[in-house]
Amino acid sequence: MRSVIDIVDLSTEELDDLIKVARDIIANPDKYAHVCDRKKLATLFFEPSTRTRLSFEAAMYELGGHVISVPDAGSSSASKGESVSDTARVVSCYADIIAMRHPKEGAAFVAASKATVPVINAGDGGHCHPTQTLADLLTIELEKNRLGNLTVGFCGDLKFGRTVHSLINALSRYEGNKFVLISPEELKLPSYVKKDAIKSKGIPYEQTTNLEEAMPKLDILYMTRVQRERFFNEEDYLRLKDSYILTPEKLRKAKPDLAILHPLPRVNEISVAVDDDPRACYFKQVENGKYMRMALILKLLKEAGTL
Ligand code: CP
Repeated sequence: MRSVIDIVDLSTEELDDLIKVARDIIANPDKYAHVCDRKKLATLFFEPSTRTRLSFEAAMYELGGHVISVPDAGSSSASKGESVSDTARVVSCYADIIAMRHPKEGAAFVAASKATVPVINAGDGGHCHPTQTLADLLTIELEKNRLGNLTVGFCGDLKFGRTVHSLINALSRYEGNKFVLISPEELKLPSYVKKDAIKSKGIPYEQTTNLEEAMPKLDILYMTRVQRERFFNEEDYLRLKDSYILTPEKLRKAKPDLAILHPLPRVNEISVAVDDDPRACYFKQVENGKYMRMALILKLLKEAGTL
């Protein structure tokens, strides 16, 4: 049974195909309005979410399907001690496909190993968030008309930021990209991500703590939140949380066609004054996530023989 746990589960050709299908969904929504009639998506969210859960649910409704949901850990039998693998087996009896978010790294992998329907990882701790990466890729493609030959700045929490790790992996597959890694010392990109996705492929990159110095060279600026929920120590969180705050002043030296992305939710790292700048793409990115999730649901249901 094909599941998607990590962005590496999808080949570059598959990423390109998903973008093509998402573009077709945007152009021809009526063509897709009944393709999942009578099919059911289960959303199992054991960690808070607004975008990912609701966009999966909106995606299934827009494909004509239905949704059953565990919206939080406290309202499921996980609170009585049921294991992730038992939960996955049980939910497979009710649904054709599962989207799961869990605070523990590897939970979606465990679920997929026992489920009898496809499982999509909707975020597992600080590990992976592949469908956010699909949203990011479609946004870059729609803004830039390409996924290569871009200088991409990643700013903020590059250590725990699962969306950063997955997007670096995806963009490292396209020719001509360069990365600028902007973070406090304590939140630098983990060395395993740097080694696997950047150094081993000979991709040019630089590391800096200074966003303003990096700004003029960037085609894409991917801002991230410093995630309180990933810190063991409140003092460290408080010290680092406002390391970078993007303001209109800081954008003065940016390219006129810069695209500013953020997986959201934001706290302070992008001033609301930036929202009206035409270079702010983060709310379009939210909508793009729905189209890519529609494309992925279709792909996995077709491969499972359900459609
Ligand atoms: N980007 C993202 O995963 O948002 P949610 O946590 O609201 O789902």
